[in-house]
Parts: sequence; structure tokens; C-alpha cells
Amino acid sequence: MKQELANKHPSVRARAYVRPALIGLVAAALMTLATPSEAQEGGAVAWGKGGCFACHGGLAQGGGGGEMPAGPNIRRTRLTPADIKEIVACGRGDMPFHQEGAYTTVACYGIPIPGPAGANQGSPLTSAEIDSLVDFLVKNVVGVVNITRAACAAFYSGNTNAPACAQFR
Ligand code: HEC
Repeated sequence: MKQELANKHPSVRARAYVRPALIGLVAAALMTLATPSEAQEGGAVAWGKGGCFACHGGLAQGGGGGEMPAGPNIRRTRLTPADIKEIVACGRGDMPFHQEGAYTTVACYGIPIPGPAGANQGSPLTSAEIDSLVDFLVKNVVGVVNITRAACAAFYSGNTNAPACAQFR
């Protein structure tokens, strides 16, 4: 049943070869813009490294679709932290899996390893990076539906003068 879920979009697999490279490029560009200064920024860095913004929008407000699958608004998610961690690690539908070794050395959704990787692969993150990413989302994003200047700044090392945040109050 869960395996079926993971296999929901087999047509996406062909595109999976192009996508991580593309996301990697964008992520690298973004990371040079937003240089983290403190340990607590690790989650925001993982957000960039994982290329989450490409589908979910720069502030996790939901993606517009087009080139990339439209990722839902993470601010409105009702998932628990454990569920968020699982979906980031193991993927679901058009959501790629991100954990290094998922489906090969790390079991997902109870599928014995090595098993079929139903979901396509996104930019790989370590388990520790996923942990800090989930912490970051739980603290700064989940339930924060109205994006204030401060909520935006969380994605830019707390810099409320980040140009991308100028439109928020
Ligand atoms: C290639 C596009 C893509 C990328 C990259 C991507 N996602 Fe997703 N994400 C999706 C789509 C599409 C869904 C909806 C999946 C479904 O339910 O079928 C989703 C679902 C989710 C959900 C579940 C939301 C809910 O309430 O059901 C979370 C949380 C999430 N993504 C977080 C992330 C994070 C964090 C990253 C970066 C590590 C990321 N995503 C990268 C496309 C993407």
C-alpha cells in the first residue's frame, strides 16, 4: 500500500536525471547569496541544498508549478514533525526522496532494502541535515501562514534587510 503510494508517478522517473543537476545549480547559486553565520541556520542551508524552494517556493509558501512540480504550501501542513521527516527522507508522489541511501541502505515506508525507489531522487541530504531542516521548518514555517518580514528573514540568516523580504512588513 505504501509502496503503491511511492510508485504513484512512474512517468516522473525519466525527468529525475535532469532535475537533481538543475536543482544543484540553483541551490549553489542561492547558497552563495545566503551565507549562514550561526549553527541554527543549518536548517535553512539544508533547505537550499535540498532544492526545496524549486517546488515549494522560496518561502515554503507553495510552488507555482511550471518547470517543476508544484509543491504544496508547507506553512499549512498538518503533518507531524516525524511525518515531515519521513516525506523529506523518502519522498511521496512527485515529492523526491532526499536522504542519502534511501531505499538502498536506509529503509523507507517499511520496504525492505535494497528496494525499489518509487519516488524520484532529489538533491541528497544527510540524516543530520534532514533533522535540522525539519527543526527549521517546525520552528519557522509550519503554522506561520502569514509571512511577516521576520518570517521571511528566517530564510536569510535572520537578515530582515534581505532584498527578498522587502515586500513584507
Ligand atoms: C521536485 C519538486 C519537489 C522538491 C524538490 C521538494 N518537494 Fe516537497 N513536495 C512536492 C510535492 C509535489 C509534494 C506533494 C506530494 C504528494 O502528496 O503527492 C510535496 C510534499 C511535501 C511535504 C508534505 C506536505 C503536506 O502537508 O502533505 C513536505 C513537508 C515537503 N514536501 C517538504 C519538502 C522539503 C523540506 C523539500 C526539500 C528537502 C522538498 N519538499 C523538496 C514537491 C517537491
